[in-house]
Amino acid sequence: MYNSKITGLGKYVPENVVTNHDLSKLMDTNDAWIQERTGIEERRWIKEGSEDTSAVMGAKAARIAIERSGLTKDDIDFIVFATLSPDYYFPGCGVQIQDMLDMPTIGALDVRNQCSGFVYALSVADQFIKTGMYKNVLVIGAEYHSNGLDKTTRGRSVSVIFGDGAGACVLSREEDNTKGILSTHLHSQGKYADKLIVESPSIGHWVPEILNAKDQDISYFPYMDGQFVFKNAVVRFSEVIMEGLAKNNMQKEDIDMFIPHQANLRISQFIQRKFGLTDDQVFNNIQKYGNTTAASIIIALTEAWEEGKIKAGDNVVLAAFGSGFTWGSVIIKW
Ligand code: ACO
Repeated sequence: MYNSKITGLGKYVPENVVTNHDLSKLMDTNDAWIQERTGIEERRWIKEGSEDTSAVMGAKAARIAIERSGLTKDDIDFIVFATLSPDYYFPGCGVQIQDMLDMPTIGALDVRNQCSGFVYALSVADQFIKTGMYKNVLVIGAEYHSNGLDKTTRGRSVSVIFGDGAGACVLSREEDNTKGILSTHLHSQGKYADKLIVESPSIGHWVPEILNAKDQDISYFPYMDGQFVFKNAVVRFSEVIMEGLAKNNMQKEDIDMFIPHQANLRISQFIQRKFGLTDDQVFNNIQKYGNTTAASIIIALTEAWEEGKIKAGDNVVLAAFGSGFTWGSVIIKW
């Protein structure tokens, strides 16, 4: 058995900055409410007419990650792409990356685990490397949320939260079993699927039905029972971090850097307090990008690394919670 380690990191966010003040011109909201409840100051939304999509942004982030890994596209053995906002209902974005990056006909897999998507994708890639099947796996998280949000007052409790962007990493074989990804921990609880959902179009509720119902039917916009999700998130975040620490005989004091999924700054701060971490031990960038779902952890990890906040030998903890419900953690010896 091998370990896997991250050898290259990259990110891409659209240029177009949308501030809370900009949103207050579209719907009944304000900067104070958004900052107080979520910590978000601005987000990136793809501008109309831009070439960017989830796959295109993912490809841009992936090119940077591959270059930084010192490898070439031809060294990549497999692609794992996490998104809840794919370019097409099918096929998935992974195969688009194979084409956009002009890669050999390697396998490509899409992961649909929403805010936990990147943690799940990393875990899948890690297993392929551990068993020796692949040496270098490209893992991407990307989201194009802005075109699917209800940007009226009706949708304000959801639409102010989400942003567009992408991150990518190359995961490579590591011979030293004390380094790289030490363990991953994945969970789900489908009983709460309807608490955070985009219901349609689905095969059982297709486009003509939605159009015929005019705006009586808003099942194609994201729905979230915010308070219920918040309460579950803080519990599951804590549990799954503890599970990861226990698996590796670590204590909370052993955490050098915690990178939470950027769902809400209040959730991150709650976990920070619970685990007794200092501001330097937690990386947040939700203030700038909002919640970019499957892209959020990998964008944050990339920025933390770019800013020199992660050093060789650090214990890095990633954790996520979101729609499904799904949640998970990753423990890394950097
Ligand atoms: N601007 C102004 N007022 C608003 C807005 C807004 N954008 N949105 C809602 N309000 C109002 C509501 O109408 C309500 O008014 P009322 O009291 O008169 O009825 C009031 O503000 C409070 O609304 P709540 O929904 O109760 O606000 P809450 O404090 O719960 O914050 C939030 C909402 C930010 C969504 C929070 O619940 C949250 O962050 N939940 C968890 C999110 C999360 O972790 N998601 C998981 C990942 S996402 C994924 O997997 C895709």
